[in-house]
Order: sequence, then C-alpha cells, then structure tokens
Amino acid sequence: MRSSSAADDELGVLELPGGRLFCGDNVRVLRAHVPDASVDLIYADPPFNSGHAYYFTGRRAEGPRFLDVWRWDARAYEETLAGLSTALVDALEALRRILGESGDLIYCAKLAESLSEMRRVLKPTGSLYLHCDVRMSHYLRLLSDALFGRARFRNEIVWAYRTGGAGKRHFARKHDAILFYTASDNYTFHPQRERVRYRKPFFGAQRDEHGFYADVFMRDVWEIPAVINVSAERTGYPTQKPMALLERIIRASSNEADLVLDPFCGSGTALLAAQRLGRRWIGIDISVDALRVAHARLVAASAQPLEALYVQHEDGRPAHLHL
Ligand SMILES: C[S@@+](CC[C@H](N)C(=O)[O-])C[C@H]1O[C@@H](n2cnc3c(N)ncnc32)[C@H](O)[C@@H]1O
Repeated sequence: MRSSSAADDELGVLELPGGRLFCGDNVRVLRAHVPDASVDLIYADPPFNSGHAYYFTGRRAEGPRFLDVWRWDARAYEETLAGLSTALVDALEALRRILGESGDLIYCAKLAESLSEMRRVLKPTGSLYLHCDVRMSHYLRLLSDALFGRARFRNEIVWAYRTGGAGKRHFARKHDAILFYTASDNYTFHPQRERVRYRKPFFGAQRDEHGFYADVFMRDVWEIPAVINVSAERTGYPTQKPMALLERIIRASSNEADLVLDPFCGSGTALLAAQRLGRRWIGIDISVDALRVAHARLVAASAQPLEALYVQHEDGRPAHLHL
C-alpha cells in the first residue's frame, strides 16, 4: 500500500461496520469494485487544481499529504480520452481549444474520467454533488452537462464562508461551488428548510423568544463556517470539509440505509456524516494518510472494536495497510 503517489499496482480495502474504505485511484477502484447503478448519492471533493502541495497543519517536515499540481502529458491525455464517451471527448476537445495543451486540460480530462465512472455507478434515482473551486467550476460544469445532460443539472450551490485569503486587488474569494446533478428526473430529494428572521410580524410568521421567523425552503446559498484551527471537528487533514455541509447534502439527497460514495474521501467527512445519519458508505482515497485519518474518525464514531476490521488486496491476498 503506497501513499500520495499513484497506487498503480496495489489496492487495498478496509471493511468497517458501516462501509468500505478503499486505497487507490478512484477510477481503478470503481471499475474493479463498484457495480453499475448501485450507489444512491455521490459527494465528490476532488483536488481543486490549485497548484499547491497540501500538508498536515504544522507538520511540513513530514512532506505533503497530497499534491494538486497538474502538468500537460500528451500520452496520458490520449489514453484517458480512449475510455470516454463521445459526448465527453467532444467536450474535452472543445476545452482543448480554449485551455490549450496544459495542466488545466489534463486536470479536466482526469476529472472527466472519474466523473464517467461515477455516472456509471449511480442509480437512476441517484444524485451527484461535485465540489469545485470557482476557478475550475465552469469547466467541470461543461463536462458534467455532457455526461448527465443539461436538463439534469439541478443547482450550483454556493458554499459561503468567512475564513481564508484576503482580496486586495479583487473581492475576497469566500465561496466554493457545489454542482448538483441527478441521474434522471425521478430522484430522491427531501426539501430542507432554513429559518429566516423578521423584524415585523406578517401572516404565517411564527414567534419565539428572539422575535418573528418563518422556516422557508432552503436557498442554494449556504453559509456554513469552514473548518479552522480552533474547530472542534478539525483533524489537521488539509481541505477537510465541515460536517454540517455534508449532513445537509446527505439529508437532502438520500434515505436511511442508502449507499453514499465519496471517491475523494480525504479525512472521511462524508463517510462519517453518512454513518451518523444511518446510511451505508464507500470511501476511496489515493493517499494512505487520508485513510488513516478517515479510519480513526470512523472507528471513534463506531461501537465496533478495531479487531472487527480486516484488509485485503483486490485479488483477495491480505494487504498490509498500516493504519
Ligand atoms: C479535497 S481533498 C478531500 C477532502 C475531504 N472532502 C475531507 O473532508 O477531508 C481531495 C482528496 O482526493 C484524494 N485524491 C486525489 N486524487 C485521487 C484519485 N485519483 N483517486 C482517489 N483519491 C484521490 C487526495 O488524496 C485528497 O485526500
């Protein structure tokens, strides 16, 4: 079992009480282990094409946990295209004219390959939430439109937060885009509500000790604090997302006992949220360090003892996953 760099010749799986954690490239794992139309909900939070190396906070000496740096590779591009549908190839070739032969294009091609596998494993009633950086979200939306069809685009959710970089030459960038697509028009969706407060009463308003309010249908703009140094839920894994964000998505787009997939699971936030909400889950990450964190969180939240776990290679041989 290797970390960060591509685990080409080895895959590993950990069985936990609520689901399975796979180590490896998600395209390979999905092809080898996840059947067509078997997943109810996918939350995908891939690297953002930021050009950065990500470290555990304060532990730079140990080396990066994952690299988000993409370079043009003509052979890799052609090989990736060979496995994709005509619609995706056409979309990528259109992007090639815009982006040129660049790291950006390789990033899009690799994401297209992962998205294509995600689309395959999604049930007809299923949904995909694709978490993107705003510098790449429009390209990924084009690819997702090609894969799902424009009519299956449901929302671009704006996840807004207050922390992060400042903006002296532009407005401070304080949101991510989460693209929500469904596999068909007959999909699971439980409308969520949010509380809006009012200064004055009106017909239908409720009242509590803080004043007047109404619980209205939730908008596609979500103000949820990001995970910061002092957050109780912080694991130290870079790019960890808040539990509240994942719980909202899972509540809206799945039912109890449904299967939730996170193919870029990192510290396992979506898996833990799924477990807490009584869903089954599958987590995949290429980094054994990520799986170590996810595993520790899931075991801590589970009543089952560690001895209940076992590991094995794709072909059934025991793997040595040193968590
Ligand atoms: C943005 S982070 C996910 C963070 C996660 N949502 C959380 O809350 O901790 C992206 C993750 O994708 C993983 N990754 C990158 N390329 C991958 C691939 N080809 N297959 C599987 N995982 C990959 C990285 O190791 C990293 O942990």
